[in-house]
Amino acid sequence: MTDHIQFSVGDDALLLLDQRILPGREEMFTVKTTKDCIYALQTMVVRGAPAIGVTAAYGCYLAARELDPADAQWKARLEKLLHDLEEARPTAVNLRWAVEIMRRAWQADSDLSLPRLQAKWLEMAKDIHVQDIEINKAIGRHGADLIDDGDTVMTHCNAGALATAGYGTALGVIRGAFEQGKKISVIANETRPFLQGARLTAYELAKDGLPVKVACDNACALLMQRGMVQKVVVGADRIAANGDAANKIGTFGVALLAKHFGVPFYVAAPASTFDLNMASGAQIPIEDRTPREVTHIGEHQITPKGVGVYNFAFDVTPSELIAGIVTERGVIRAPYRENIARIIGG
Ligand code: MRU
Repeated sequence: MTDHIQFSVGDDALLLLDQRILPGREEMFTVKTTKDCIYALQTMVVRGAPAIGVTAAYGCYLAARELDPADAQWKARLEKLLHDLEEARPTAVNLRWAVEIMRRAWQADSDLSLPRLQAKWLEMAKDIHVQDIEINKAIGRHGADLIDDGDTVMTHCNAGALATAGYGTALGVIRGAFEQGKKISVIANETRPFLQGARLTAYELAKDGLPVKVACDNACALLMQRGMVQKVVVGADRIAANGDAANKIGTFGVALLAKHFGVPFYVAAPASTFDLNMASGAQIPIEDRTPREVTHIGEHQITPKGVGVYNFAFDVTPSELIAGIVTERGVIRAPYRENIARIIGG
């Protein structure tokens, strides 16, 4: 799966496979403006840190395209649109990473006319899009060696093709092992409340013919106690300088259980997911999403009216629970602060 994010030259628009309605319906959502892009990011038409970054890169182009070169204020208006875009979701650092790359290219050539900036940004967005697939394949190659023939690998949320430009990070490691000829199977935790595991991970692995079973999030302890899980591989939304890794809510619990049962727990993420400005995971902002995702399944309310809920979308796994962080530059192991500074910071 590599075509869930497409730039349509004919429509001069970004087309996104609408992840809100998978696996039941496969429909493309059209993004023509910055407002559309922010809506798509916030409602999770597109989600997953690297996919958010790729979308935001195209979003910068769409922002520039919205403006009129005859408007004396176009530069100020563009900066405001970039700011709105990078605020769309708080946790995945790839969003700010992508906008910052575009902003720096503009600052480096600030006399560029608006039409030339538009052309430059469209090319840059396409490059970020294509490179992300190559990065994930490199993550897959490095991570594949961590998986043994016959393993059952548990993953949480969706860190697959749908969460990236294609191939995936955590699922990239699984695909890499599969491509080495290892007979492996996958347990996809369902990942309440948005059900990225049940709906998206299961969808893309099944579509590609990889053996996958869905388990309720609360089955994790039993599955590990019964020896049914040999490895855990998850993605990340932001990794601090000390290796603490933010990922989908529930990941920390899976890591604690993995530690208890002696199951190696790996994180797979590109260099763009590291935020070396954050000394530890305690500084990573955690998105607090709409209660409706918890109170309702579709149109049906499952909680009593008037009862409040928690809907934190991410948690942070401390680096001492992580056996290794698989990146396109190789597998980073403890001591994390030194090794991250050397491999990512250098
Ligand atoms: O809220 P989401 O669906 O955007 O959260 C996604 C995750 O937590 C993924 O595991 C993470 O972004 C890594 S994607 C390669």
